[in-house]
Parts: sequence; C-alpha cells; structure tokens
Amino acid sequence: MSVAMGGDETGGFVGDVGTAVSKFGFGGEDAPKGVLSSRLGCVFDQNQAYVKGSNGVPLLRELTAEDYAVPDDYPARLHTRSPFVAPPQNQQCVAKWLHGDVSSLGAARFDKGESCVVRSPLVDGELDDWDTIEELWREAFERAKTTGEEQPVLAATPSDATPKHRAQYLELLFETFGCRAAYLARNATLAAFAAGRASGLVVDCGAGTTSVVPVVDGYVLMKGIRTSKRGGDHVDAHAHDLLTKLCGGTEPVPRAAVRREGRKTYESWPEAFRKFTQRETVRDLKESYGVIPKKWGLAVGLKEDKRQFFLPDGTVVDVTTDLVRAPEQLFEGVEEEEVPVKKEEEPSIKVVRDARVGQRALQPPQIMPPVNDPVVAALPEMVKGSLERVDVDVRKDLLLNIVLSGGGSCAPGTAERLHSDVALSLCAPFKAKIVAPAAFERKFGVWIGGSILSSLGSFQQMWLSKKEYDDDGPTRLVEGRWG
Ligand SMILES: Nc1ncnc2c1ncn2[C@@H]1O[C@H](COP(=O)(O)OP(=O)(O)OP(=O)(O)O)[C@@H](O)[C@H]1O
Ligand SMILES: [Mg+2]
Repeated sequence: MSVAMGGDETGGFVGDVGTAVSKFGFGGEDAPKGVLSSRLGCVFDQNQAYVKGSNGVPLLRELTAEDYAVPDDYPARLHTRSPFVAPPQNQQCVAKWLHGDVSSLGAARFDKGESCVVRSPLVDGELDDWDTIEELWREAFERAKTTGEEQPVLAATPSDATPKHRAQYLELLFETFGCRAAYLARNATLAAFAAGRASGLVVDCGAGTTSVVPVVDGYVLMKGIRTSKRGGDHVDAHAHDLLTKLCGGTEPVPRAAVRREGRKTYESWPEAFRKFTQRETVRDLKESYGVIPKKWGLAVGLKEDKRQFFLPDGTVVDVTTDLVRAPEQLFEGVEEEEVPVKKEEEPSIKVVRDARVGQRALQPPQIMPPVNDPVVAALPEMVKGSLERVDVDVRKDLLLNIVLSGGGSCAPGTAERLHSDVALSLCAPFKAKIVAPAAFERKFGVWIGGSILSSLGSFQQMWLSKKEYDDDGPTRLVEGRWG
C-alpha cells in the first residue's frame, strides 16, 4: 500500500519500546524527540489489582504487604512488578499512570501511606505488559500531538518476538490506536540500517537483555539469534552489590528518599520499590565511570577525577576498580543460561529468512535448532554461537560487520574488547571488524534505523493498510508476511 499524507510521502511515527527507555518520534528525523522512561508508576483503584490466583487465573483483590515482597529471582527481574506476576490485563482498574521520575513520584505516594507499582513493558526481553506498552504509545502520541489515525506507525519489536506478540502489536496499533497503516520491524534489522548496513551481526546491549542477531539483506536469521539476560540491569545489580560492600554493608540511601521528607519513611517502603530506587544510584555511577578493559585480564586505572563518587545523601565513596569495570559483566558469563521454551515458536519447522520489509519469505523452510537451546551469556561466546548457527557463506560478511547497538554498549572500551575477544576465538583466515557508531547513535540505533526505513520512498508501499489488516487478520499476517 502506498501511503501519502497531503500529497507528500511521510516517514510516519516511529517507536522503539525498550525495557528501560522508549524512543519515539517522526520518521525522517535524526533523533527521537520523545525519549521516555519505560518504567511507569501505576496506581490502582483502592489499591486493588489483578494478581495471579492459585490456578493462574488473574484475580482482582486488594493488595497486601505480601504482594510487595521481592520475588526470588529478583536480581534478574530488577523492577517491582512483584504483585503482577500476571499483569493486570484490564486498564479499567488502573486509576492513574505516573509518568516522569517514577522514583520520586512513587516515593511521594509511599510517604503518604499510599501505594504504587513500577511496571515495565518487557520482561527478560519479551513484550510482556501490554497495558504499559499501550500507555507508553498513548503518552508518546500525546506529546507529539499526533495520533495513529493521522499517519502510519512503525513499531520496532524485539528481534526474536514471537508471532503471537507481533500479532498483539498489530492489534494494539490498528484496534486500540485506530492506525490507518502500520509496520513492524525487528530491532536488529533497524540497528543494522542505522549503521548503514543491510547485513551485519548486530550486538544489542539493552537494559533487559543482550542479543546477538545475524541480519542478511535486511532479514533476521532467526536460527542465529542468541540472547542473554545479562543486560544493563544485570550490570546495575552487580554494581549495587559492590557498592553496598564498599559502604560497609549499608545500602546507599536513594535520591528519591534524600530529596524528600520521605527519608523518614524510606525504611518502610516496600522492599522491591526500595531496591528499584537504589539501583538508580549505581546506574549513574556505571554510566559515568564504567569502563571495559580493552583486553581480557588487563587492569584498569582510575582517572584522577573519577576516584570518588558522591552518593545522593552526600556521602563520598572511594571508587574501586571492581566497581568501574562492572560493565565487563557482559563479557564474563561462563554459566549457561536456559532460555525458556517459547510455546508460540512451535512448530520447530520455520521459515528462516522472514523478517524484512514486508516481503514474503523467500527461502524454503529449514529446521530450527531446539528453541530451548542453552545460551552462553558471555558476549564473545554468543557471537561465536550465533555464527555457528548460520550458513558458512555468510559468516565472513557478518564478522566484518559486527554492529554495536544499545545503551549498554556505550561503556568505553566495549568495541575494543569485543574485537579482542572475538579475534581470540576465531581461527584463521577469519577476521572481525566492529562497527561502533557514536554513543548517541548506539543508544538510539533501533529508532534511527526505523526513522531511515520509514522515510525511504521505496518503503512507502510496504506499509500494511487497515484494509489488509481487516482482510487477513493479525494472526495470518504474522504467519505469512512477518512470521
Ligand atoms: N555509558 C554507558 N555505559 C554503560 N551502560 C550504559 C551507558 N549509557 C546507558 N547505559 C545503559 O544502557 C541501558 C539502556 O539501553 P537501551 O535504551 O538500549 O535499552 P532498552 O532498549 O531500554 O532495553 P532492551 O533493548 O533490553 O529492551 C541501561 O541499562 C543503561 O544504564
Ligand atoms: Mg532496546
């Protein structure tokens, strides 16, 4: 379908909803104008919410202190959605969404004896909380003073998003937001485009996950995707432990408690919320002090001006080398992590080249590796694992185009270390080249790729129209066109 608005071709409205940061803006522009925190505070009517009932069926009831307990797997799930193991699928019980600085806004509520829950759109790299996804898009449209009816909308999805989730995304765009035309593109394809490449091995270090995704001619090779839960949140959790040790076992008082009267009531905040706010301090530290040694085993020196760090309450800590090299966690996973079986991905026979610009799958079906294949969390191993799963004839090209993307790849030294570690694990005659765009472009790479793609003249016929959506239905569309 060709989409024209007022006679001009349009880049539409582009959105990349991430675990921590959501990026929105008009296609054709250089940078996303709407950069929102993905973690939203949510207030429920009379402190009620849908929680997981004993048989797994969501159950509406009043929240109790127990609901705010920290889940057993807390370090991996760093946000406070503990009461929402089954996220409420009903916007009606949401009284209010809190946008902006969720720590301060939430703190204000807890200080008054009220409650609030921090929700995140993705969990472990999967689109998970559709209410939050919807609210982020709603806020983005409002801020940009536009709607889905006024122009086509391009949404970036995780590279390994399941057909079920992609169908849900189409439903959200066409049915909830009344879009006239829309398009779904996979993160890695867009990140490669942003780096000026149709093919490349995209290494996306996000907040929730790190993924290595082979892209060939704009198509994601699904069988080569490797993901690890070791994203920026994992680094924050590690740095938090180190900082707490450095403070003699006392967890640092978060900014949200210092700025407010709330310091008095901070201790009584639900544990999960306290942890959420504490992580902000180490995140600041990580982003401004963090480095990755350029080679394995290399020591890092502390710069003169980066030997001390001021905690929000004014306490000064002497920074240690362990702390500044916290981002090195991405390179250090040696344990194998089981990836849960995604039921929607069955059957295991699947079209491999399937992910680009609306063209129908070109390749005959190939056997997919088992979906619960263990994934090694260390980045160089993931690169190797990914290459091993793709055809030999594309490996060389991918190795020469390893594209860094995502905020987590911005720690100084990342590109050099990746090059050094990948080179170590390669046999001659292979050579690797890391494409490391500027930090700004890495942070917004997926969005920038979407902006470029959606404004290409040749792309305008790729938009999916409402009529096509109505005729085919979301399930058939994702099975065929965007499986
Ligand atoms: N200079 C930096 N050094 C290290 N990490 C950084 C730096 N700048 C940002 N980050 C981290 O990058 C992460 C956010 O990156 P990004 O916006 O790519 O993630 P996301 O898209 O929200 O998450 P995901 O892609 O996993 O869904 C955060 O964990 C943030 O702390
Ligand atoms: Mg992302």
